[in-house]
Amino acid sequence: MKASIRAWGSLVFGFSLALTAIAVMAQTPGTSVDVLHWWTSSSERRAADQLASQLALAGVQWKDAAIPGGGGMAAVKVLKSRVLMGDPPDVAQLIGTTLTDWADIKLVLPLNGVAQRQRWQSVLFPTVLDLVTYKGDVIAAPLGIHRINTLLYNRRLFAHIGLAPPRTWAQFEVAAQKLQQAGIRPLAWSDEPWQIATVFETVLLGEAGPTLYQDLIVRRHSAAWLDPRVERALQRLRWLRNLAGENPQERVWTEGARELMNDTTGMMIMGDWAKGELMAWGANPARDFGCIEVPGTSGMHLYSIDTFAMLVSPRQREAVQEKIAEVVVGPVAQIAYNRIKGSVPVRRDIDPSVLDSCARQSWDTFSNPASARVPSLAHRMAADENIKDAVAQALWRYLTDPKGDTLETQRRLATIIRTPVMER
Ligand code: GAL
Repeated sequence: MKASIRAWGSLVFGFSLALTAIAVMAQTPGTSVDVLHWWTSSSERRAADQLASQLALAGVQWKDAAIPGGGGMAAVKVLKSRVLMGDPPDVAQLIGTTLTDWADIKLVLPLNGVAQRQRWQSVLFPTVLDLVTYKGDVIAAPLGIHRINTLLYNRRLFAHIGLAPPRTWAQFEVAAQKLQQAGIRPLAWSDEPWQIATVFETVLLGEAGPTLYQDLIVRRHSAAWLDPRVERALQRLRWLRNLAGENPQERVWTEGARELMNDTTGMMIMGDWAKGELMAWGANPARDFGCIEVPGTSGMHLYSIDTFAMLVSPRQREAVQEKIAEVVVGPVAQIAYNRIKGSVPVRRDIDPSVLDSCARQSWDTFSNPASARVPSLAHRMAADENIKDAVAQALWRYLTDPKGDTLETQRRLATIIRTPVMER
């Protein structure tokens, strides 16, 4: 009897030890992390899953908090409300200027320790390190470099009609006309404001060149918006939009990619995440579609760099958050993730021969010191959420209002994009 009580006692003791161990494990910071992002298309989802599996190998469990919506419009709103409610995610896809605003109010964990240990200073591209460095602190883990000035074209349709990929707007006009004559939609289009802004900034870069682009977007010289080259860019934007026909249509960006895939559309101007999407659907850049720079932007790289910020929270997850930064910037995750996402690695010490032909062009241009690397406004690299949204709205109005006036739109843009008060 005594023996069985003892046995029972030790069983209970053992059981409670196990429970304690489970409880301790559950409390151990960093086993499971909440990740907020807006990657929900096929390629985006796979790229996120790839990061999750890299993190799993390091003992970190990814709890997904994806908020659908291209360009992150909805995700940023949800993120803000979670922070206001005192429930920030551990990791957030927070990019560009928004990041610095949040760092100013101490919502973002500095990653100086991991950056130093992993020698980010020497392994990252200087433009990337600059973007994630603010007031002397490294404030985010960079994931990949997207190229916005990408023109995708359908190789089968181009071969069928006997067209060469257009390098100039004159060649583009001929290609558009021939596609139309063959009953094919020349250019995928959506009137979603962020997509309009994405096309506009690449056209602007082509018309204005990198110096004026920097004046307009980075240095925000208000008066420069009245330059005739801006007028030409707006007129070109309207011409591109009119190729899509009369009725305005706001469609998710994957629909345009789908048309390109199905041979119903000849071309698409979009960040190279669209290439990632085509590849996720089984298309091949050597066989099915090609990528070239948008006319006028050869040798220029209009970039948007995705980053993960580690948010400060009462849960005190610093150790695991640093681990995440280390893993996602590490060479293995960098190659695996970027090959799916459509972007290129943020590290300059990887072997670029593992990249597909589109990524290779992007990589070569970005890493060439002679290239012009300019930040995307539509994807938050150059201005905050409010300015970006106001610009996108002004462009949307210009295109969707039949009476939309070019000069008036230039004036409106000049008012929205002003020199920051501090720098005046
Ligand atoms: C961008 C983001 C990309 C891609 C795209 C479409 O802002 O940097 O990673 O997801 O939006 O949603």
